[in-house]
Amino acid sequence: MIVPEDTEDSAIKKDGQLYLGKIKRAFHRHFNINKKMKNRGVIWGEFDGKVVLITGGSRGMGAAHARAFVKEGAKVAITDILVEEGEKLSDELGEQVKFYKHDVSISTEWEAIVADIEETSGPINVLVNNAGVSLMKPILEMSEEEYRRVIDINQVSVFIGMKTVIPSMLKTKDGSIINISSLAGFRGTVDGSVPILHLNSLFVV
Ligand SMILES: NC(=O)c1ccc[n+]([C@@H]2O[C@H](COP(=O)([O-])OP(=O)(O)OC[C@H]3O[C@@H](n4cnc5c(N)ncnc54)[C@H](O)[C@@H]3O)[C@@H](O)[C@H]2O)c1
Repeated sequence: MIVPEDTEDSAIKKDGQLYLGKIKRAFHRHFNINKKMKNRGVIWGEFDGKVVLITGGSRGMGAAHARAFVKEGAKVAITDILVEEGEKLSDELGEQVKFYKHDVSISTEWEAIVADIEETSGPINVLVNNAGVSLMKPILEMSEEEYRRVIDINQVSVFIGMKTVIPSMLKTKDGSIINISSLAGFRGTVDGSVPILHLNSLFVV
């Protein structure tokens, strides 16, 4: 963004006031402060008191999302089938975080977890559908069971998650849903003459 010089010429005169000069000064004040504070590692608390649910949060990107939300002041529920890693992360991040054992393809587990989060922390404000698996295999070697399992985890779970969490968000009329996906799902691969199925989140969501 280009901010014009703070001269009388560049200012918009309205009701005898120099509005542009004021805006420019506010702009610089804001961004200089931001820069200084960020360099010092100061956090803004943009999610103070917000309740965030992150699936697949025991490791990888889900764990990174959890750390970031905690730094911004959110109460975070991380869910995963990996119990040991999830509990370790939850202990490390402190009382703002609670871990739930959760298979995202099972709707009754979603219902129980959402009910518990509401009871302990309040209605959910942010849902991050991050849990996912990746399976790359020649189509002729992939079983129907494998295919259905990936679809259940990467696609059906996202539907169940949104359907279960949206009523909670409606209680405060404050909700954001982030469905993580992958560019790799845009196209398949051919190994020799055999098409390879990329079963990952974007492919199915
Ligand atoms: N890492 C990348 O480069 C990349 C790129 C694009 C998209 N993604 C997507 O981001 C998400 C996270 O990727 P990642 O690299 O951190 O992968 P990861 O394998 O490290 O993390 C995925 C997490 O999901 C959990 N999970 C798997 N099945 C589950 C189930 N049935 N119920 C609950 N949790 C389950 C796993 O235990 C794991 O903790 C995935 O959806 C992936 O498709 C990743």
